Amino acid sequence: MATRRTFLKAVAVGAGVARVAASDRVRVGFIGAGLIGTRHLIDFAAQPDVDVVAIADVSPPRLAAAVRRAGGRPEPVTDFRRLVDRQDIDAVVVSTPDHWHALMTIMACAAGKDVYVEKPLTHVVREGDWMIEAATRHGRIVQVGTQQRSGKHYQRAAELVRGGHIGPVRHVHIRATRNISPGFTRPVAEPTLDAAAWDLWLGPAPLVPFDERRALYHFRWFWDYSGGQTTNLLAHDLDIVQWMTGAMPRRVSAFARRSLEGFGETPDTCEAIYEFPDFLLTWTNSEVSAGRWRGLEIGGTKGTLTINRAGFQVVPDRAIPAEVQIPTPDFAGSAPREDPLRTEAVTDEGYQQVRDQFVPHVRDFLESVRSRRPPMSDLRSSQQTNIGCHLANIALRVGRVVTWDAAANTIAGDAEAAAMLSKTYRAPWDRELRASINAV
Ligand SMILES: NC(=O)c1ccc[n+]([C@@H]2O[C@H](COP(=O)([O-])OP(=O)(O)OC[C@H]3O[C@@H](n4cnc5c(N)ncnc54)[C@H](O)[C@@H]3O)[C@@H](O)[C@H]2O)c1
Repeated sequence: MATRRTFLKAVAVGAGVARVAASDRVRVGFIGAGLIGTRHLIDFAAQPDVDVVAIADVSPPRLAAAVRRAGGRPEPVTDFRRLVDRQDIDAVVVSTPDHWHALMTIMACAAGKDVYVEKPLTHVVREGDWMIEAATRHGRIVQVGTQQRSGKHYQRAAELVRGGHIGPVRHVHIRATRNISPGFTRPVAEPTLDAAAWDLWLGPAPLVPFDERRALYHFRWFWDYSGGQTTNLLAHDLDIVQWMTGAMPRRVSAFARRSLEGFGETPDTCEAIYEFPDFLLTWTNSEVSAGRWRGLEIGGTKGTLTINRAGFQVVPDRAIPAEVQIPTPDFAGSAPREDPLRTEAVTDEGYQQVRDQFVPHVRDFLESVRSRRPPMSDLRSSQQTNIGCHLANIALRVGRVVTWDAAANTIAGDAEAAAMLSKTYRAPWDRELRASINAV
């Protein structure tokens, strides 16, 4: 450890001056080459100003496939510390499970690298604070993988909401629903992890016997590595609400259940209610009932904006005439009236050709790496989203409403709930965390 700490210090001293010149190519390393890591590898490799230098994954077949996909040139790395320590890498893309996001980002920052890290930002809330501390101390750019912010139609919708087109926001609904019943009753389709890799896959998480069903992709269903669908999926759309409005929730309650068969722990059905200062927000997740719609619906006093990755639409509200606002005996019989629309209908036809959010997010990151301007999904605002997601899980697990005290950056008046904002890393990763944050 002493050797590695000394090394980090040496690297970090140099990192303060390490900058990618506007004309230079950006040398990128990838940690995690699974479902989304492969997408990032393809998108970054397609950029004319990017060199893919190294790829790290603990799964031998995945690592080999990723290196092949990148033309066979990048160095294959099993232990990501080798990649983080390489001095010829400018930026690192972290696409590992959630329990690794914070530590890998912090270690890369300490080693003088900029980072593109997948959502959800962290596994527990405090990790986001540690990431901000490390990135600030080491002067690094960190882009979070909430790609929707880089979508042209999301940007247009944000302009409309911020500009008051639908009036003050009063009611928001976020739904992520599908049906994967009866659950995970068959063996893992793609056994690609071996027992030798298990310790490094677990990393800071508690040591449990090797069980591949907990690992590739399915880590999402286990509390030790993830916050379930509430951090996995809500992270995208709560982020849009937070980004559009800048608002933070004050109180959160949540109810959930699990009826899926087979392995897994986190809920398959969840309802959470958020009280923001000016609006209420509901989060509905179901893995056992598909429902009729999914996405984000933002209700204002003049109309409703619905949006998902495919597009957006504003539907104006009709004004209810004053005489029928008071229920009278003949209310039910009153004829429907054509009343004035409260706002104008808007669709995103002008943005039909620019649906992609992933490549623009990569380009935004590369521009930040060069210019040192904050990226689209910067750490500070992403941490606000992150807190919002985790609060629902904490409310669920303590079984009561939790109150967020933004000024104090903690849960108010509930020591048990506040304790869930943090966690202890398994050795030696606890020491690695402290060394990386503090390396100056
Ligand atoms: N932005 C999006 O739309 C989007 C989509 C999917 C996933 N994600 C996020 O990306 C992350 C990864 O999800 P996934 O579905 O790709 O998971 P996955 O299991 O398919 O891939 C994760 C990869 O990380 C590797 N890995 C694990 N520990 C490692 C370590 N210590 N060193 C090197 N490699 C390691 C695994 O072997 C695996 O190949 C999650 O946090 C998820 O929330 C984001």
